Amino acid sequence: MKYLESNKIYLGRSESKMLEIKPGSIALSFWSPPYFVGKNYEKDETYDSWQMMLKKVIENHATVLKPGGFLVINIADILCFKDENIPKVQALNISQQRCAVTREMVIEAKEQNPSFNRYQLAKLLGCSEQTIDRRLNGNNIRGGKYQTQTRVKLVGGNLEKYAYDVGLYLYDRRIWAKDPSWANSRWTSNSYKAVSEFEDLYIFWKPGEYVVDKRKLSKAEWREWGARGIWYIKSVRKNDDHEAKFPFELAERIIKIFSAKGDIVLDPFMGSGTTAIAAIANERKYIGIEKEKKYIELAQKQLNAYAKQIPLFG
Ligand SMILES: C[S@@+](CC[C@H](N)C(=O)[O-])C[C@H]1O[C@@H](n2cnc3c(N)ncnc32)[C@H](O)[C@@H]1O
Repeated sequence: MKYLESNKIYLGRSESKMLEIKPGSIALSFWSPPYFVGKNYEKDETYDSWQMMLKKVIENHATVLKPGGFLVINIADILCFKDENIPKVQALNISQQRCAVTREMVIEAKEQNPSFNRYQLAKLLGCSEQTIDRRLNGNNIRGGKYQTQTRVKLVGGNLEKYAYDVGLYLYDRRIWAKDPSWANSRWTSNSYKAVSEFEDLYIFWKPGEYVVDKRKLSKAEWREWGARGIWYIKSVRKNDDHEAKFPFELAERIIKIFSAKGDIVLDPFMGSGTTAIAAIANERKYIGIEKEKKYIELAQKQLNAYAKQIPLFG
C-alpha cells in the first residue's frame, strides 16, 4: 500500500483518509474539529453523526501515532446546546422591566378574574399582552420564547472515553484563554451565564517512551507558558477566509512542546493550514487532511506565501 506522503494536504474525510497514513509514523497530532455550533462546514452533522465522526478519528490515532506520541485536541464545550427535553428556562429579568406591572400584580388580577385571558388581563392592568406573558412565563434566555431551550453540554468526557477505549490516555489538559466573545453572547443579558472566552486543550498519550528535552524552550518560556495551565492567546481577528481558525501561536506552542525537529505533525482538520505552517516554521513535517476543497486551496496559498516569507499572521 502506498502511504500518504508528508508535507501535503489531502482532500477527504479523516474517518477514512487517515487509514492511508503509515501506522506508527505520527509523533504529534494537533487539531480542532467542528464544535457542533452551527458552522457551515458542519451543517450536515447531527449530534450523533458528529460524535461518531470524533470517535472514529480518535480511534484512528491508536494506529497512526508512534508509541509515546501525543494527540492534542482543541475544542470547547457547547454553551447553547438545544435540548427539547429540558423544562422551559424561566428568567424574570426585573432589571429590564420598563412597565411597572409586576408578576404579583398579574397573579392577583388573575386570581380575582379567573376567566380572563391575557388580553383581558392586559386591558385591566393597562399593559401589553406580552407583558402579561413575560410576567407569568418569564423570558426564554436565548431570545425567542418559542425556540428550543438550551443548556451547556460538556464535550471533554466523551473524547476521554473514546480515547481510553482504544488505549490513548489523558496525559494533561490546558486552557486556552482567548478574547471574550460578547457579540455571540446575546443570551447573557437575560441570565447569569459567563461570556464565552476560553477553550480546552486535551492532551492524550499513546503508551511508549517519549523524550523529555527541556532545552526545547528557554527557562523564561517554560516559566511564562511552557509549564503553565492557562494560555492567554488572542483569537484570530480575520476570519473572512475561514470560519474558525486557531491562532498560529497556539499551534506553535503545542508543536514546540510535544514534538521534535524532523517529526511528522498531523492535522486531520487542516482548515486554513495553520498547523502546517507552524510545523514548517519549526522544522517539522506535516500531513494534513481536510474535507473542503476550498480550504485546501486556501491552506496551499498560505503555505506558498509563507515560503516566500510574506507576513501572514497579524
Ligand atoms: C475548526 S476548523 C479547523 C481550523 C484550523 N485549525 C485552522 O486554523 O484553520 C475544522 C475544519 O475541519 C474540516 N472538517 C470537518 N469535518 C471533517 C472531516 N470529517 N474530515 C476532514 N475535515 C473535516 C472543516 O471543513 C474545517 O475546515
